[in-house]
Amino acid sequence: MDRIVVTGNGPLSGQIPIAGAKNACLTLMPATLLSDEPLTLTNAPRLSDIRTMTTLLQSLGAEVSALNDGKVLALSSHGLNNHTAEYDIVRKMRASILVLGPMLARDGHAVVSLPGGCAIGARPVDLHLKALEAMGATLDLRDGYVHAEARGGLKGAVVEFPMVSVGATENALMAATLAKGTTVLKNAAREPEIVDLAQCLRKMGAQIEGEGTSTITIQGVERLHGATHPVVTDRIELGTYMLAPAIAGGEVELLGGKLSLVAAFAEKLEAAGISVTETERGLTVTRKGDRVQAVDVVTEPFPGFPTDLQAQMMALLCTAEGTSVLNETIFENRFMHAPELTRMGARIEVHGGTARVTGVERLKGAPVMATDLRASVSLILAGLAAEGETVVSRVYHLDRGYERVEEKLGAVGAMIRRERDDG
Ligand code: UD1
Repeated sequence: MDRIVVTGNGPLSGQIPIAGAKNACLTLMPATLLSDEPLTLTNAPRLSDIRTMTTLLQSLGAEVSALNDGKVLALSSHGLNNHTAEYDIVRKMRASILVLGPMLARDGHAVVSLPGGCAIGARPVDLHLKALEAMGATLDLRDGYVHAEARGGLKGAVVEFPMVSVGATENALMAATLAKGTTVLKNAAREPEIVDLAQCLRKMGAQIEGEGTSTITIQGVERLHGATHPVVTDRIELGTYMLAPAIAGGEVELLGGKLSLVAAFAEKLEAAGISVTETERGLTVTRKGDRVQAVDVVTEPFPGFPTDLQAQMMALLCTAEGTSVLNETIFENRFMHAPELTRMGARIEVHGGTARVTGVERLKGAPVMATDLRASVSLILAGLAAEGETVVSRVYHLDRGYERVEEKLGAVGAMIRRERDDG
């Protein structure tokens, strides 16, 4: 297992290219199951989660080839010959549940293991299942698997989600493209990844309106065809690297970044005293003063402050002047980075879904443990601002969602290296 060693060494400067979005790619890949013609995804990120989805789709009989050093994925479900997504693959990644809707919509049956994923909360899939049931699917939960059938095909329905769910919206949206009649998804998620999925599905022949708002209307069609689609920029990778100069000082340009992807987050950075400007090529982030100011943060579905940037933002606020209150409303167990940051000298009190962070002048390097994907990168960010060496172990979490972190941060002047951890 690898570990990452970071030594705080002052201001950063230069450019960081931002990859295609992991979360968008993980829903665009299963969209291949809706058609027997090829789907080509460009601007794909090179991550272990993408390899897990590749393995899952291949286990179903789909072809997936990574071209151009993994940046292009050529997918085809022409030879689909298995409708069971096995536990052994699904347990590695929660997004595996996204194969359910498309398989069911195309062939009228699917069996999918209930997923695992990051340990950041209970994360049930009831909303996915209720949406498919509303569209006429019969579901049976047996031995940890969802057995789904819709032999006569899915039927359009009005689905009102009781809470906003990105994954459930994606599953229902994909399934509805091939259902008979009209489906209306109410209280749908509005994330850029949903918009990206709808745009790709439309290129494949789907009839969709309203993506990016909370009501999406889908007119089912007989069949979908092939398409080529570029994966949208990863707004979470973007926000994460925006925090690097915010924490370490300096000025960094994030290539491919757009303000519209991270508006609520950028507002908080500005309030903390960080300047964010849109350039022709991306976003430039500059830390002006010596210390940032405390700000309060509440995580919300898009367009609110993303839960996937909460851990990284906390790393920044650990050295702010004053006390910040972070309120996590999406996942119930998403402060596992707090005790690790405390090991580095941070002052954090957690009560339920609220964390109070009182800034200290300087963090101190320490050996720390990555507990989940976003927590692991928050520790690396904290290491950029710490005195001495921070050693982050268990970085397999990191590799699920960030490509070549040490190269990207190294290129803007950070002292960071990857080591083999034999301990
Ligand atoms: C997606 C993202 C993840 C991000 C999250 C919230 C992917 C692959 N992952 O996860 O990085 O943190 O959105 O922005 O895109 N819920 C239920 N029942 C369900 C589904 C969800 O109760 O059937 C709850 C969850 O436990 C959570 C909330 O709804 O509290 C939001 O989860 P959801 O938006 O579904 O997250 P994911 O799609 O799993």
